[in-house]
Amino acid sequence: MLLMILKDVAVLSAIGVSLATVMVIAGRWLSNYGECKIDINGKREVTITGGTSLLSSLSDKQIFLPSACGGRGSCGACKCKVISGGGPLLPTEKPLLSKEEIAEGNIRLACQVKVKSDVKIEIPSSIFNIRRFHATIAEIIDLTYDIKEITFKFAEGEKIDFLAGQYVQLESEPYNKVKERVTRAYSISSKPEINDALQLIIRYVPEGICTTWVHKHLKVGDKVSLTGPYGDFYLRDTQADIIFVAGGSGKAPIKSILEHLQVTGTSRRMTYFFGARTPKDLYLTEEMKALEQVFSEFKYEPVLSAAKPEDKWTGKTGYVMPYFAETIRDPKNTEAYLCGSPGMINAVQKALIENGIPTDKIYYDSFG
Ligand SMILES: Cc1cc2nc3c(=O)[nH]c(=O)nc-3n(C[C@H](O)[C@H](O)[C@H](O)COP(=O)(O)OP(=O)(O)OC[C@H]3O[C@@H](n4cnc5c(N)ncnc54)[C@H](O)[C@@H]3O)c2cc1C
Ligand code: FES
Repeated sequence: MLLMILKDVAVLSAIGVSLATVMVIAGRWLSNYGECKIDINGKREVTITGGTSLLSSLSDKQIFLPSACGGRGSCGACKCKVISGGGPLLPTEKPLLSKEEIAEGNIRLACQVKVKSDVKIEIPSSIFNIRRFHATIAEIIDLTYDIKEITFKFAEGEKIDFLAGQYVQLESEPYNKVKERVTRAYSISSKPEINDALQLIIRYVPEGICTTWVHKHLKVGDKVSLTGPYGDFYLRDTQADIIFVAGGSGKAPIKSILEHLQVTGTSRRMTYFFGARTPKDLYLTEEMKALEQVFSEFKYEPVLSAAKPEDKWTGKTGYVMPYFAETIRDPKNTEAYLCGSPGMINAVQKALIENGIPTDKIYYDSFG
């Protein structure tokens, strides 16, 4: 009897193993798309092994599309034109495309499109200036309890050419139970005049993959990889008045812009509102205040939303929006540069429009 049961178990196990083997082989066969060609702008062609996303296929060929969310389909930064070979639009793409983009029919998210055959795409030529950099961590400074400033020194001979306000994408290393490498966007906080190194200001996000690596694992001397520069958040070359608004680590790109203006000089009228909760969320305050003596018309205004009486805070309180009316002199001739959480950006944008600032003069990088 026991022998018969054992025999049945052995037969069933053998069938199970055979089925699993057939499924693995079939899976490999079905997802074996062989060599595929990607035609870029009708001017360049790269050959890749099919089966992975358009985003990573291009990145393997050192062509780096912006991908702030690291390919999770949540930022929309990797949009590009797929002229042919992209297959049907996927449900994961639709929420990030506008009605017009969907109607156009060929705007796609490169992180969601899988390359299964030859593909024709169109991307801006500026993408070809984005490169991979190898760097060593030169310094890590605590700016607050949850914000660090990291200095990256590039390998011998590597230099970055960027506009103040742009960002890079940092690649994290595996640690503890996190086995994957992720890439995340971080605005450059140092000025473009320094090109053999750069600084980032990174706020810790509890449970965040990349920020936990940066805050709990990254050490001086570690080697890291990043790509860039990306983005269209940079100072427009006009004489318009400026309102800067930042919260948390959103200070990073504005610091870069202000340090750059220190080098070039400017007589533009500038007001910088920095929104934070309590005094312990403020940082680089003296450095920003000192700029009031450097520029002819510059004011730095930290605004605290949750200061307690024991903080003895004598500066502005509440949210930054109510202070716009007294600051804006000539709304049609004012540009606004905003950086921080999506919630803050939306609220500030609405208030600026109510104060008469034209929508096309409001520039922002949303850190969401
Ligand atoms: C253009 C751009 C520039 C950026 N520049 C900076 C910068 O200079 N400094 C900086 O610190 N960050 C910056 N960010 C945000 C950064 O790219 C990451 O999103 C952030 O550091 C979290 O990454 P993570 O891997 O640690 O968290 P994830 O593992 O991606 O996320 C973990 C969880 O936290 C949530 N989450 C993600 N980001 C945030 C956030 N910022 N606040 C609260 N919750 C969040 C996610 O929804 C998720 O639930 C920028 C983002 C963009 C798009
Ligand atoms: S990389 Fe973020 S949506 Fe594609």
